[in-house]
Amino acid sequence: MPGRSRHPGAEEFLPESRTLSALRDAAASCQGCDLYADATQTVFGAGPARARLVLVGEQPGEVEDTEGAPFVGPAGRVLERARADAGLTDIPTYVTNAVKHFHFRRQGKRRIHQTPRAGHVSACRPWLDAELETLHPDLVVCLGSVATKAVLGNDVRVLRDRGTALERDSTVGTGTFVVTVHPSSILRAGADRDAAYAAFVADLKVAAALVS
Ligand code: URA
Ligand code: SF4
Repeated sequence: MPGRSRHPGAEEFLPESRTLSALRDAAASCQGCDLYADATQTVFGAGPARARLVLVGEQPGEVEDTEGAPFVGPAGRVLERARADAGLTDIPTYVTNAVKHFHFRRQGKRRIHQTPRAGHVSACRPWLDAELETLHPDLVVCLGSVATKAVLGNDVRVLRDRGTALERDSTVGTGTFVVTVHPSSILRAGADRDAAYAAFVADLKVAAALVS
């Protein structure tokens, strides 16, 4: 695989201590793939160590890259509203991403989101695995296909398997998972936006029933 030797993956950057704060501190200087070079900063997961629910997104966007926290931009606003509408607001929740650096291309002054490549996802997976190992939540919700593939591999399909409890082996052991669409897909749904949003909330209600 070209570039493998230049980009060894996150493994060698993992700290000995696996507390969330030790992981976060170590991830700040990760150079496990090429994405660290152009992004502003590592955007690590956020939420309490007692979280019982983990939400996994794709990668930080423009706003997250600037602010250093996950889901604080437009997709985050959709997610926040949907969590409230699904009754998840009071469930201690940790929010993170499959890839911790923003992948983009420049177009003039703008930075345009690029889907992370499989190599980025696998390079970054030690961070996600470590977060899940440390938290061992009751439920993991994958938001969109990048997160779904990162956590559950190729056997689970978002549109086929969304909104139902899946018992699966993952890289961090057997657990319960729910997959659903990425909240940014609702922003792109045009005239179907209301239906797309309602379906997203319905999936999150399945998650709420599993952790309540
Ligand atoms: N999209 C994601 O997948 N994650 C974020 O943190 C923001 C937007
Ligand atoms: Fe490390 Fe992940 Fe950032 Fe790549 S995207 S440099 S593996 S934290």
